[in-house]
Amino acid sequence: MQDKRIALVTGANQGVGLQVAKELVAHGLTVLVGSRNFEKGQAAAKQIGMGAHALQLDVTDQASITAAAERIRNEFGRLDVLVNNAAISNTGRRAGVTIEEYAQSTLASNVSLDEVHAVWETNVFGVLAVYQAMLPLLHESPAANIVNVSSGVGSLTANADPASPYHKMFGPVYPASKAALNAMTLAMMIELESTPIKIRLVSPAFTSTNLNNYAGTETVEDGSREVVRVALLGPDDPTGTFTRWENVTIPW
Ligand SMILES: NC(=O)c1ccc[n+]([C@@H]2O[C@H](COP(=O)([O-])OP(=O)(O)OC[C@H]3O[C@@H](n4cnc5c(N)ncnc54)[C@H](OP(=O)(O)O)[C@@H]3O)[C@@H](O)[C@H]2O)c1
Repeated sequence: MQDKRIALVTGANQGVGLQVAKELVAHGLTVLVGSRNFEKGQAAAKQIGMGAHALQLDVTDQASITAAAERIRNEFGRLDVLVNNAAISNTGRRAGVTIEEYAQSTLASNVSLDEVHAVWETNVFGVLAVYQAMLPLLHESPAANIVNVSSGVGSLTANADPASPYHKMFGPVYPASKAALNAMTLAMMIELESTPIKIRLVSPAFTSTNLNNYAGTETVEDGSREVVRVALLGPDDPTGTFTRWENVTIPW
């Protein structure tokens, strides 16, 4: 059994997930670089170096999730940190279509149900399926830590306020998927209350990644900082928080 803490980051072949994997390795953890495309995961793990291991993991594919959990059990016997990071914002916004135009074509009244199903499949059901598969391994850890990577656009409290800058953008696809993820996280948190496993929500800052066609204003280093900090929290730190930066909370 390894002394080093073992972490799994889903969707770690690029963007925030890759940066989080990189920094957790730098902090001495052994990191499983989850990637739906194994070759991309291998390239990312190679880029990170010693301590990073590619793990094929498509969060929408139960067979892939089950195989990933089996591999972690066989090779490490436990999981200490789970970062549920993988997500999609849409299934293919056409080039040249602005976020505002996309929002207008995905209102509750006119959105394609296929689009809603596809995004929720990854962002909501994918997280729940990974949680279910990894929970027995997290129970093997003396101090396990789950980070669900959400978004400020999923905050019901913030976005119900007409003064919120994202109020008009709150639609059924990505924003509602993150609100549903927050609801799933609350259910997980209540289930875990009597266990040593901690669970927290984090929103990266508005970070330049593929998810937003690189429109984000923060670098991946800065935008991922809170995810890394929360992934490294210990058993005595508060549970159930939703933060964007250290000491900057988001209402659920
Ligand atoms: N960027 C921001 O400004 C921002 C703000 C708030 C919240 N977030 C959240 O931060 C997290 C990371 O996003 P990002 O900005 O880093 O986006 P990104 O660069 O697009 O990365 C998303 C990652 O998720 C993976 N993924 C997508 N579907 C998957 C599936 N079915 N199974 C496994 N992996 C899958 C992608 O894999 P492929 O490479 O194969 O596509 C990619 O590795 C997401 O939860 C996002 O909602 C981002």
